[in-house]
Amino acid sequence: MFIVLLGPPGAGKGTQAQRLAAATHLLHISTGDMFRENVKNATELGKLANTYMTKGELVPDEVTIRMLLERIARPDAEAGAMFDGFPRNVVQAAALDDALGGRGAKIDRALYIFVPDDELISRLGGRWICRNCGTLYHERNDPPAKAGVCDKCGGELYQREDDRPEVVATRLQKQKPPAELIEHYREAGVLREIDGARSLDDVTASLLEAIR
Ligand code: AP5
Repeated sequence: MFIVLLGPPGAGKGTQAQRLAAATHLLHISTGDMFRENVKNATELGKLANTYMTKGELVPDEVTIRMLLERIARPDAEAGAMFDGFPRNVVQAAALDDALGGRGAKIDRALYIFVPDDELISRLGGRWICRNCGTLYHERNDPPAKAGVCDKCGGELYQREDDRPEVVATRLQKQKPPAELIEHYREAGVLREIDGARSLDDVTASLLEAIR
């Protein structure tokens, strides 16, 4: 099964992808995480991506699509995957459709998580992430037992550079899923729209229902 998770920055794509991966054992592929890993390792790709990420802009399609196609060509993505943060536009969606089509597969579900802007701003401002295992927290909505420490592995929690208020404003302006992208999946008959402004457990339950 191949699934895409769509939604604006802070909608809960990463959080829900971690929960869905635990429940379904589907491979979780996050282009944002891949870029951040490259930034951390100071690769050429990371240096390039960072110039866009720090401004709250999308990394160019050509670079992003190449990285994603290389990732899904690996054996662990043969049977299925859940894409978090990809595609962001119809050019990326078409590239993914072509790649999957070439091996007799397709996107089975596009799960669009929608959340109002004021809630997104509050979620991004309070987000903390484990530097070691990537588990996501929120200082009010989903706090760790001990501030600054990951419940799962004891790793140090940090806040993303692009969660600063001025960058969040640009991300919310430029990075919401465009209407044509939603239409692309509606026309394919695979779109499911999920109200993301509910509790974490309620959203997970709706997503699991939608992929059943
Ligand atoms: P990426 O990492 O994909 O960022 P994003 O799309 O902006 O999404 P976020 O990771 O910020 O939010 P999320 O929806 O995953 O929310 P989360 O679960 O963390 O991309 C980063 C950058 O990389 C982009 O800006 C771009 O430059 C580049 N990039 C990536 N992919 C690209 C592509 N395809 N093309 C071009 N460029 C690309 O939740 C947020 C917070 O809310 C957490 O604290 C969480 O605990 C909390 N929360 C979640 N759900 C709930 C809930 N139901 N109730 C209460 N709190 C909740």
